[in-house]
Amino acid sequence: MPVKAYNSLTDRVRLIDKSKELPYDLLLLADETVESINKYIFQSDVYVLERDQQNIAVYALQTINDDTVEIKNIAVDTSFQGHGIGQELLKDAMNRAKESGFKRIVIGTGDAGIHQLYIYQKAGFEMFEIRHRFFLDNFPEPIFENGIQLKHMVMLKKDL
Ligand code: ACO
Repeated sequence: MPVKAYNSLTDRVRLIDKSKELPYDLLLLADETVESINKYIFQSDVYVLERDQQNIAVYALQTINDDTVEIKNIAVDTSFQGHGIGQELLKDAMNRAKESGFKRIVIGTGDAGIHQLYIYQKAGFEMFEIRHRFFLDNFPEPIFENGIQLKHMVMLKKDL
């Protein structure tokens, strides 16, 4: 059966109660280890996209300061990737951040994350900072993406 694109009538984005559920299976698509996820997830609001009673995507929003919120994790179940759901989740995150009074939303990704850099810039984010050696200093094992070892974190921002 072909994968359906995002549909605002059948898909529902829901804030989860972290004391009851945390979708590590999805969160681990965007981050390497449970330990690294646990460094931010308990200080974040976690939203899941539900379709037919199934969680098919997630994002986590963390307040950085009065003006800025960061998308710390965004992931779509592998069977549903490439059908516009990621773009819809980015829009959902921006809308919620704006409604909550934030002025700016930021997101970070690995320097070799070409697909992610494309999606974020297509959604209106622009690069503003490089966190040098982030992946070398924060993970015990080398991480490869697109055949390239991740070294630095590229930070992107969008004014709301
Ligand atoms: N390769 C190249 N381009 C692609 C691919 C692909 N595999 N998949 C989708 N695209 C294109 C789409 O064609 C679309 O472009 P278009 O609008 O010009 O047609 C664009 O990328 C947006 O694609 P979506 O379908 O909206 O993206 P998707 O639903 O797959 O979600 C996401 C994107 C979240 C990155 C998803 O692929 C994913 O979960 N990846 C694994 C986890 C991950 O890397 N998360 C981000 C880490 S960084 C962080 O979490 C802060």
